Amino acid sequence: MKGIILAGGRATRLRPLTKITSKQLLPVYNQPMIYYPLQTLLKAGIKKILIIVAPDYAGQFLNLLGSGKEYSADFSYEIQDQPRGLAEAFIIGEKFIDNDSVTMILGDNIFLGQDFFQKIKDFKSGGMIFAKKVPDPGRYGVVEFGKNNKVLSIEEKPVAPKSNYAIVGLYTFDKRISKISRGLQPSARGELEITDLHKYYLKKGELKVNIFKGIWEDAGTFDSLLRVSNIVAEREKAKALTKPQK
Ligand code: TTP
Repeated sequence: MKGIILAGGRATRLRPLTKITSKQLLPVYNQPMIYYPLQTLLKAGIKKILIIVAPDYAGQFLNLLGSGKEYSADFSYEIQDQPRGLAEAFIIGEKFIDNDSVTMILGDNIFLGQDFFQKIKDFKSGGMIFAKKVPDPGRYGVVEFGKNNKVLSIEEKPVAPKSNYAIVGLYTFDKRISKISRGLQPSARGELEITDLHKYYLKKGELKVNIFKGIWEDAGTFDSLLRVSNIVAEREKAKALTKPQK
């Protein structure tokens, strides 16, 4: 299993914070944001990781993360010159993915909890995504479930969401993914949509949708960035309290 961290984009919602650096390098309490998705992949046992960044500030990612040796892992880097959508990551990463399965995580998505490590380790083929109940599903891809948790539909940022289940920013696909991504047409907003990849696997009956039970935050707005920083701070302090005193 290979890993991709998608850490490009424009980050317009975090301006002016992102006028002089990337969103994924901003602090989330005591660590740069990208450390969290990186730790998620490492904990799932993924060692070969491609980090896709935007051209501005690309060098800062290299300075921060280096070759991966420090983590007993192997990092490589690619540039996405324009934010043409999440699915483009699998085209940029085609050679890197080669004949393996791949888990992609968004560089601004923070997961706290052990929920999916074993599921990623056990992955065999098809596509696998995770959904979580949220109050504002219209900001995300939304899954509609029927009887016996059968997936009825998947929609990208619907105006009238059919459920409260948002698709979180961690996706596992088999080795067909780059070829399938190449066949996508850009959506009305000009992006190659990750939900079109989900729909492709769903239509073939090869999409597994799990419910994510841990904490998930997309740290792309001032409020969510502050919220997740506070959650991490609380957890760090609780951890410090349970450590034996010297
Ligand atoms: P978004 O938060 O949807 O987009 P953004 O980061 O450009 O922010 P804003 O909406 O405030 O302008 O992107 C989710 C994640 O995916 C984020 O980590 C950036 C990354 N991304 C890319 O790397 N390339 C892309 O083409 C897109 C659309 C997003």
